[in-house]
Amino acid sequence: MLRFNVFNFLLILSILCYLTRPVLSDCQDVATFDENFDYFPDKVFFDNDNEGTSVNSGFNVTYYNNYIILTNKKTTETYVLYCTATPPAQPVVDPAISISNYIQVPVTNVVVSDRSFISFLEILGEEKTSLKYVDDINKITSPCLQKYSYLYDNFNYANTTLVSSVDVIFTNQPSSTGGKYVTISYDDDTPALQKAEWIKYISLFFNKSAIANDAFDKIRSNYLCHLDNLSEVPNETKKTIAWVSLESDGTFTIESSFFYPNVTQDAAAFLLNPQITTDLAASDLQQYIADAYIVIDMSNLIPKDSNLDAWKNYFGYNQTSNLPRFLKEKLLFRTHKLLNSYGYDDWSETSASRPDLILQDLIAIQYPLYQKNYIVNWFNNFAETGDDVVVSADNCNDSTFGLPKTDFGTCAPTNFLGDGRDNNGTQIINIGNDGGNGNNNNNNGGNDKDEKNKVNPGVVIAVSLIGSLTFLGLGAWLLVVTRRKYRERFVKLRDEPVVQMDSVKEKEVKEAKEV
Ligand SMILES: *[C@@H]1O[C@H](CO)[C@@H](O)[C@H](O)[C@H]1NC(C)=O
Ligand SMILES: *[C@@H]1O[C@H](CO)[C@@H](O)[C@H](O)[C@H]1NC(C)=O
Ligand SMILES: *[C@@H]1O[C@H](CO)[C@@H](O)[C@H](O)[C@H]1NC(C)=O
Ligand SMILES: *[C@@H]1O[C@H](CO)[C@@H](O)[C@H](O)[C@H]1NC(C)=O
Ligand SMILES: *[C@@H]1O[C@H](CO)[C@@H](O)[C@H](O)[C@H]1NC(C)=O
Ligand SMILES: *[C@@H]1O[C@H](CO)[C@@H](O)[C@H](O)[C@H]1NC(C)=O
Ligand SMILES: *[C@@H]1O[C@H](CO)[C@@H](O)[C@H](O)[C@H]1NC(C)=O
Ligand SMILES: *[C@@H]1O[C@H](CO)[C@@H](O)[C@H](O)[C@H]1NC(C)=O
Ligand SMILES: *[C@@H]1O[C@H](CO)[C@@H](O)[C@H](O)[C@H]1NC(C)=O
Repeated sequence: MLRFNVFNFLLILSILCYLTRPVLSDCQDVATFDENFDYFPDKVFFDNDNEGTSVNSGFNVTYYNNYIILTNKKTTETYVLYCTATPPAQPVVDPAISISNYIQVPVTNVVVSDRSFISFLEILGEEKTSLKYVDDINKITSPCLQKYSYLYDNFNYANTTLVSSVDVIFTNQPSSTGGKYVTISYDDDTPALQKAEWIKYISLFFNKSAIANDAFDKIRSNYLCHLDNLSEVPNETKKTIAWVSLESDGTFTIESSFFYPNVTQDAAAFLLNPQITTDLAASDLQQYIADAYIVIDMSNLIPKDSNLDAWKNYFGYNQTSNLPRFLKEKLLFRTHKLLNSYGYDDWSETSASRPDLILQDLIAIQYPLYQKNYIVNWFNNFAETGDDVVVSADNCNDSTFGLPKTDFGTCAPTNFLGDGRDNNGTQIINIGNDGGNGNNNNNNGGNDKDEKNKVNPGVVIAVSLIGSLTFLGLGAWLLVVTRRKYRERFVKLRDEPVVQMDSVKEKEVKEAKEV
């Protein structure tokens, strides 16, 4: 009987605990507020976690029970994010630090001044309920935000009534400080992977750090998986990539800010990085990039000039009959493959949050056979007309609109050694003899299949030995889920660019046969 009583007692106690436990709104409810209760149970997690500080991240976070001290390390701005009804009177901060701003969280009325922040809100699932203002609705490329464009509006920064009515204004301009402004600081000096980590910073404003941690972990592990898989490409067969830009003053730049060498090397290529990279005349630029395997143009061309002939005029290739290899071989790219109907590019909106896709794109334009079915997201082959896709409201998948995004694709482990060709396209290593898989080795897809065939019989035998139908069912379910996940990534844009990729592949195969 005693046992029964103890059990009852515990049961009642736990129910009581549950009922008296502060819930979400309690942080603002003066009557039930408990200063000893942790109102931020989901913490952002860093790789080399040192109490909210990561050496590599652009920000640090310190948690208190009902507020967070958030520092943007680049701008040295510190924000107090509090959940109480009024701001904390004396937040614990280093006296040397001045507080830029107090923001009550979670926020639900958000202005985004830089289009690239929108894709972070989409991953967190805040695009439907919290995104209220943008700089220019016509620039938005996200299919669902195009479809639901009535949910948000253009922001008028000059309207002080409007400015004071919103919860937060995310900006990339540290000059706009104080009031509702919060600076997000990534730029061309930020490695691709570190740009994506700002999702953790943004998540603090929505109390969605668990989602941010999870999304970033998936994105990072995909990135590192592809990086690892290309780490076996021999140096002699690595390609040189030049990122170039026509500036508004008519000079040329060869991009060398840290984003470029970082992502280029991670994609198993070398960055073309001559001693002088800025204020170049067309003739200098031409000389430097003459032997680049791939050239990626990052210029802001007006739509009228977004064609190869106009580009050749600008870059001075209209006077020469001796075109460089990258033009002859059609290896000139821009980041304008996905456009909205007004011609604005999705790269500017989405690439900051998806370094895993940037890397796969960069690999795919060098090695179309690495992932046979991969469809390049952003790099359009500028020498081929029509290598672009207009994304519209029709591409919106309603079932994920406003929900946290969890599907970031998968990285199938593959043994990839490159294509055995040097930067001039000459076959110098016979990749085919290294794998020992018959004639199929130049074809990554073939390798993939071989690997699967090797694994599957083992699995089948194991399963039949155990003789468990449950196991089989689970396996089949897993297979279906995995297959579906793998497919989803291509669903959105499956139609258009397939022909393109096939022709590239055919050419590649033909060339390989000739050698
Ligand atoms: C944040 O979310 C957690 C649940 O994930 C909740 O317990 C907590 O009260 C929330 N905090 C605020 C400030 O809304
Ligand atoms: C966060 O970063 C700022 C600027 O680098 C630094 O002054 C501060 O001490 C850091 N805070 C923590 C908790 O590490
Ligand atoms: C400023 O914004 C408020 C709130 O949206 C609106 O009612 C008002 O008409 C705006 N004023 C101007 C001058 O646009
Ligand atoms: C490819 O990546 C996966 C996951 O990181 C890894 O298991 C595999 O060994 C890699 N393959 C090569 C050849 O590096
Ligand atoms: C490949 O090139 C990189 C950069 O030039 C160099 O650091 C590395 O040692 C080279 N690796 C080999 C195996 O030669
Ligand atoms: C690029 O940056 C990432 C993240 O900071 C890092 O892990 C990677 O090693 C860097 N790659 C190169 C080649 O510097
Ligand atoms: C090449 O393009 C430039 C710039 O548009 C133009 O000034 C020049 O006349 C063109 N030259 C030829 C030979 O077409
Ligand atoms: C929409 O997303 C859901 C959930 O991820 C998925 O099951 C479905 O296949 C998608 N529909 C389309 C048309 O892509
Ligand atoms: C590639 O070709 C250029 C000229 O066409 C030549 O100068 C260079 O040495 C070649 N590089 C290799 C690695 O063969």
